[in-house]
Amino acid sequence: MKSSRLESNLSADVTKAQMASGGAQDLFYSRSKDSQRLTIVKGKGIYLWDDQGNEYIDGSSGPVTCNLGHSHPNVLKAMQEQAETLAFSFPSSGRNLPNIELAKKITDLAGEGFERALFVSGGSEAVDMALKFCRQYRYATGEKQRNKLISCQPSYHGMTLGALAVSGDPVFADVFGDMISMAHKIPAMMTYMHAEQGDENAYALRCAKALEDKIVELGASSVLAFIIEPVGGSSSGAIAPTEAYFNEIRRICDQYGVFLIYDEVMCGAGRTGEFLTSHLWPDARPDISVVAKGLGAGYAPLGVMLAPAALVDELAELTGFNYAHTYNASPLSCAVGNAVLDEIIQNDLLENTRVLGDYLRKELIALQERSTIIGDVRGRGLLLAIELVASKSPRKPLPLEVEAIERFKALSREIGLLIYGRRSNGGIYGEPLLIAPPLNVTKAEIDLIVERLGRAVEALEAELSDSGII
Ligand SMILES: Cc1ncc(COP(=O)(O)O)c(C=O)c1O
Repeated sequence: MKSSRLESNLSADVTKAQMASGGAQDLFYSRSKDSQRLTIVKGKGIYLWDDQGNEYIDGSSGPVTCNLGHSHPNVLKAMQEQAETLAFSFPSSGRNLPNIELAKKITDLAGEGFERALFVSGGSEAVDMALKFCRQYRYATGEKQRNKLISCQPSYHGMTLGALAVSGDPVFADVFGDMISMAHKIPAMMTYMHAEQGDENAYALRCAKALEDKIVELGASSVLAFIIEPVGGSSSGAIAPTEAYFNEIRRICDQYGVFLIYDEVMCGAGRTGEFLTSHLWPDARPDISVVAKGLGAGYAPLGVMLAPAALVDELAELTGFNYAHTYNASPLSCAVGNAVLDEIIQNDLLENTRVLGDYLRKELIALQERSTIIGDVRGRGLLLAIELVASKSPRKPLPLEVEAIERFKALSREIGLLIYGRRSNGGIYGEPLLIAPPLNVTKAEIDLIVERLGRAVEALEAELSDSGII
């Protein structure tokens, strides 16, 4: 009786028109005036299909997440087997076998300095855990005054209140700043935007010096941690600061006893051709790393905080670190993580990422040379970005009201290509789009992506030219 009343309420509330536009949930994802969203019904490899039968290439692996493409048979098999064996177990009450296996696999891949792994449900949660872990450690070891955080402007670290506090976007600060303690900001290393700064390494050292200045300004003994994306995500468009920069920030953090956290939510798990981007810089290893997106690869919500045995074991002796969420270390998610890592290792996808990342970069640079509106091509491995501009050299941004990222996404979607870009900071740091196919992409698939990208660029150029903007 009760359930049939509920059903009739549902059908009365959800009109056909609402269903056509996504029913009760669409308005949480866009402004009501924004364009329609697709209803995706099927995926295979780099392809997705909508409910109208249209085919799309998923050119950025969703939001740089589906690192093995869609419907990978080995991951699906692992999911099914795990679901049939044990779908859930509560982490505080006991460990589970996929959890133990994944902890061993990932700490082996992560290497020295990352002997301990805490599994969570995604990127924001992993960032939150890292901040809490640093704080809890200092609290337990008698440095309670260390509570200040520093991060980059722009940057993105997630949407929980803790992750928002470190994200570099004043739009968040305006709304939530009164509720939470926002991190202190230093400028991110944006080489293309600041091309007039001359030599890149000298510019890198000036950017790193901003960290030292900020620590001194805040009072070194009050600073807890500095968090940074080793390769930028959507907020900066795959900016890739240099080794000189990372070596210097490592030195500064050591000097002042500040924890260095690398947010590898997007760039970790093989995306840059190394399992962790920090493997590129042996002298600039962080204290803590967080990885998410590509670890679950779109098959299950999964993130991880990686930390050194020395810190974790000491805290375990003192107070323990007991911050479990219900779905942490879920057997299903961990089984997915195991299958994803097996695929990466068995098929040497790190090498594929390096080789095809180089190839994609070359093709994007060729596209840049043919186009008038691609100002920069940057990134590492298969985490690359193009930045749209009104004029290339000197860099002249497109007028903000063009909302170039959104226009580009709409035009490329018409051509059958889905590309990820998300405007941050109201667009003032540029209009980047992330080009990030899965790590198992082939050369032929990259050619297809670049061909469609080229058509979308031409379509936007024509539009901008017709309206007298370029
Ligand atoms: C660098 C970085 N950190 C954190 C996050 C937040 O991850 P999630 O969306 O899984 O919470 C993201 C998501 O895009 C990210 O790119």
